[in-house]
Amino acid sequence: MRILAIETSCDETALALVECSGGLSAPRVRVVKNLVASQVAVHAPWGGVVPMLAKREHLKNLPLVFSKLSAKGGKTRKLVTKKLKTNMLAVTVGPGLEPALWAGIEFAKELQKTRFPKTPLIGVNHLEGHLYSFLLTQKTANIKSEILNLKRLFPAVALIVSGGHTILLRVDSLTKWKKLGETRDDAVGEAFDKVARILGLPYPGGPEIEKLAAKGNPDAIPFPRPMLHSKDYDFSFSGLKTAVLYYVHDQQLIHPEQERGTTNNRQQKADIAASFQKAAVDVLATKTARAAREVGARSILLSGGVAANSALRRRLSVVSRQLSVTFVVPPVHFNTDNATMIAVAAYVAHLRKRRYPLRANGTLGI
Ligand code: KG4
Ligand code: ZN
Repeated sequence: MRILAIETSCDETALALVECSGGLSAPRVRVVKNLVASQVAVHAPWGGVVPMLAKREHLKNLPLVFSKLSAKGGKTRKLVTKKLKTNMLAVTVGPGLEPALWAGIEFAKELQKTRFPKTPLIGVNHLEGHLYSFLLTQKTANIKSEILNLKRLFPAVALIVSGGHTILLRVDSLTKWKKLGETRDDAVGEAFDKVARILGLPYPGGPEIEKLAAKGNPDAIPFPRPMLHSKDYDFSFSGLKTAVLYYVHDQQLIHPEQERGTTNNRQQKADIAASFQKAAVDVLATKTARAAREVGARSILLSGGVAANSALRRRLSVVSRQLSVTFVVPPVHFNTDNATMIAVAAYVAHLRKRRYPLRANGTLGI
């Protein structure tokens, strides 16, 4: 079945046309078009996402991205005709910024009314999108067989790490999971973004921290590893961020807003970034590994924007090898927000006959 999906929960206006088949036992995904219009330049001067600006940009971008989706040409010449065909429309209803979510929902309703009157429109949970993004690793040759044989992946432990969430799940099948733990304060992506701001790096901070960390010594500063040894599977990243803030102030080495610095300062900034990143990755990997052992997991599924971080990917890949479990992580462009993962979640929701109301719900959980 062909699904047209829309994602506007934060600062990416994303549309995708995706063909899903195979049912719940062996789902297959073929991406016809995956388009993302980023709003980074609009929010960057504010140091973070401004909800009403995000809404305004989505309203502006949605029709433009849609016409690009319907356009003939490129590699997809055979599949996309002028008259776009789809069996289902899907739109993210939460969690996320409510004004931004409404922009997508209203656009989807309008699209259904004017262009696809007989096509069902279903609401999708953004977090389920991230969770199911592991199905988008199919294209990776060495992972194909495991993915097609889902039985060999479950039970799994899934770590969802994004700008708004840090969640650990036990996943027993495509449709059954249980939350093991989550962050009690800041999400790990939020901590990356805030530490970037402390270091005077531009928004979005995660990729900037990763870049700078590559030039630093990860063992230079012993930042705390909050809740590393707690018996539960919860996380806390606010204390780690504050430790970085105090370190920067105590040392009086770096002016927080200072973009550049002396060579020394630049090295110190890199050491801070690398040490912070190592502390965050340590906690995530250690707790995920413990969960995988206790659950008897056959795989670790990593998703969400922070899964784009190569230190985290590397570390979980090593951990998985040590535990003899399969490590599954989609390509980087399916880690950060995209509409393909929303289409995949819509496909599973459709097979389960489960749908979310077409109402923005900023705090929708998983
Ligand atoms: O999933 P996502 O695109 O949006 C949300 O659902 O929140 O995640 C965005 C988060 C941001 O906090 C961003 O800084 C972080 O993912 N991120 C990264 C990297 N790329 C994106 N964090 C660390 N390293 C990266 N390479
Ligand atoms: Zn996301």
